Amino acid sequence: MTSAALPDDDILGADAPELTSQEAVDRSLTTAQTRSAEIERALAKDAGRFRVLTGDRPTGRLHLGHYLGTLANRVRLQDAGVETVLLIADYQVITDRDDAGPLVERVRDLTADYLAAGIDPERTTIFTHSAIPALNQLMLPFLSLVTDSELRRNPTVKAENEAAGGRPMSGLLLTYPVHQAADILFCKANLVPVGKDQLPHLELTRAIARRFNERYAGGRSVFPAPDALLSEAVNVLGVDGQKMSKSKRNTVDIAMSEDETAKQFKRAVTDSDRHITYDPVNRPEVANLLMIAALCSGGDPAVLAEEIGDGGGASLKRVVTEAVNERLRPIRVRRRELEADPAHLQRVLADGNARANEIAEATLAEVREAMGMIYT
Ligand code: TRP
Repeated sequence: MTSAALPDDDILGADAPELTSQEAVDRSLTTAQTRSAEIERALAKDAGRFRVLTGDRPTGRLHLGHYLGTLANRVRLQDAGVETVLLIADYQVITDRDDAGPLVERVRDLTADYLAAGIDPERTTIFTHSAIPALNQLMLPFLSLVTDSELRRNPTVKAENEAAGGRPMSGLLLTYPVHQAADILFCKANLVPVGKDQLPHLELTRAIARRFNERYAGGRSVFPAPDALLSEAVNVLGVDGQKMSKSKRNTVDIAMSEDETAKQFKRAVTDSDRHITYDPVNRPEVANLLMIAALCSGGDPAVLAEEIGDGGGASLKRVVTEAVNERLRPIRVRRRELEADPAHLQRVLADGNARANEIAEATLAEVREAMGMIYT
């Protein structure tokens, strides 16, 4: 695997002028959008030159928002022949909360969701942070490459800190973007599919890669600077029209039964206009249900709206329930089989962790060598 030969237009070089954070955010979004389009073209031509790192915090079961927003895309990349490394970010759970929760169950649930959705553990390495000491050790040299002001102005960390409602910022919340750089660079991934909110972390990762090479490796490229692959803006809302989130009880989970799915959509918020139209601006709740149905059935939301016409909210809910249940049916069947075989899930993780450890140890050996830390 070689690093993608695309034009490099980093903006966070050590000598680059400091940008205000809003300027930096706007600029990195435009840059990432242009580049993502280029990368999609490169992917179609030669998937084999990319290694993707992506992951989730194990905070609960995956829902339709995850499936339609990221998971289906990961499966697409894997199936297109992109080598994929999939991280269950257990250490990242404690960035903004005291209690990590029932991690054993959640890690198992997440693994089952992945495999059920089509992640193939033969081709994709699934691993947990906490099992990979050499990955975590990269944190030390990487921390030396960033300044505290860089960390403090990270807009995503700031937003997460504000959302934590007055809880003092932990050292881990402040520095987790550096930990994320270790997640990405330990396996020398050159492509990271992300949403907009993760772009600041990716900029920092690129800076860390570049600075490591300059400062500790005499300009040799130990770490490639990875690219973001911006996911197209599928923003799936919950059945109440708010952001889909477990804490709001508005999710439709991969692991739900068809009846539970029907129940969730039955209580979905619509509006008083019986005539169904696709109007995301004025009728966001109705539009969301139409979009979910369209994404699941491969149709077009406006066409679906016309078909439903005067059928009203009840009819819309039937259509979306059926589309979701149909799309998830094979995934759910497979998920139930997986759930019945916890030993298999455990083996998948153990194998993934073993593979990730090999990769991480090889990278750490290179880092030690570059830094003159080989003593025996
Ligand atoms: N921060 C990501 C999330 O909350 C999870 C994550 C951890 C991640 N490390 C990563 C994503 C590295 C991409 C690359 O969803």
